[in-house]
Amino acid sequence: MNSPINQVYPVIWHNDSVLLIDQTRLPNEYAFVEIHRSSDMARAIKTMIVRGAPAIGVATAYGMYLGAREIETNNRDQFLNHLEKVAELLRTTRPTAVNLFWAISRMLKTAYETLGTVEDIKQTLLNTAQDINAEDLQTCYAIGDNALTLLPETPEKLTILTHCNAGALATAGYGTALGVVRSAFREGRLARVFADETRPRLQGAKLTTWECVQEGIPVTLITDSMAAHCMKQGLIDIVVVGADRIAANGDAANKIGTYSLALVSKAHNVPFYVAAPLSTVDFSLSDGNKIPIEERDPEEIYKVGDTVITPTGVEFYNPAFDVTPAELITAIITENGVFAPGELAKSQLQQVA
Ligand code: MRU
Repeated sequence: MNSPINQVYPVIWHNDSVLLIDQTRLPNEYAFVEIHRSSDMARAIKTMIVRGAPAIGVATAYGMYLGAREIETNNRDQFLNHLEKVAELLRTTRPTAVNLFWAISRMLKTAYETLGTVEDIKQTLLNTAQDINAEDLQTCYAIGDNALTLLPETPEKLTILTHCNAGALATAGYGTALGVVRSAFREGRLARVFADETRPRLQGAKLTTWECVQEGIPVTLITDSMAAHCMKQGLIDIVVVGADRIAANGDAANKIGTYSLALVSKAHNVPFYVAAPLSTVDFSLSDGNKIPIEERDPEEIYKVGDTVITPTGVEFYNPAFDVTPAELITAIITENGVFAPGELAKSQLQQVA
């Protein structure tokens, strides 16, 4: 499909380096950070200059290439040994988004399977990182369009509530949950997006609203605790969120607050959809209890801006993600189609076919 106007690409290969949109500065500043080294890419992922599971995967793939480029030996075994160390560094950045580990595995596999000189391997790694970037964009377009089949046919246009930012900024472009929003908007079937602000990092308030405004998509910002009230008032037709890692049984880890959103959706009979690429599905984990949950700096919750909002003597707990049990998920929207959470294994069959 054609790129929408104002398409945002958070990770761009340009002039032998990677340009990242600095997502920590949006919406006030639209600025790029230029990344030349794998260690700088690791830092950018850790500090959330680039964030969102698929975008982290793309950035990681380029990080692997940048690391490969820094290796000076022409000896294949020594090269592969050093490349494993680059992979180790990137693995320490963020634990929950499986796309990071998926991208590292794919890049390592490519390196091991490429015959020829070290220079040949480096070139193939760059090509693979670019492929991962391009594939993710196509995947997002497919997710958006696959969702159209399940949007309720009503005379009224739909309202969609989303949490965090699963948009163009969180992917190679277009987005997963916001990809669904974009496709619905393009087809004239969307009335409005409701964006949860998404405490504590405010990805909804800062990033999702920014993306919507760029494209003229009507958007209403609410705080996370307002979702149940909005549903009770009949303001929300469906909920669509992204995912950082989905276990084989369909349990889905996503930004903290997603689980409570799924519970209130169930209580109000509002369909709750997860939109994610198959690279987000971790078939090695039987259920969501085994998904590692990142804990971030407590400063994110005891400060608002630069102001400390709590008295001394308080303890903090700041998990960045939670796991929504499969039974609360109406369906999972992937590039290969829409699946009941318990039927994700079928998506693999379709992938092979
Ligand atoms: O901590 P973040 O901002 O990286 O968390 C992002 C999310 O939770 C997204 O919903 C998820 O990665 C899906 S992005 C398409």
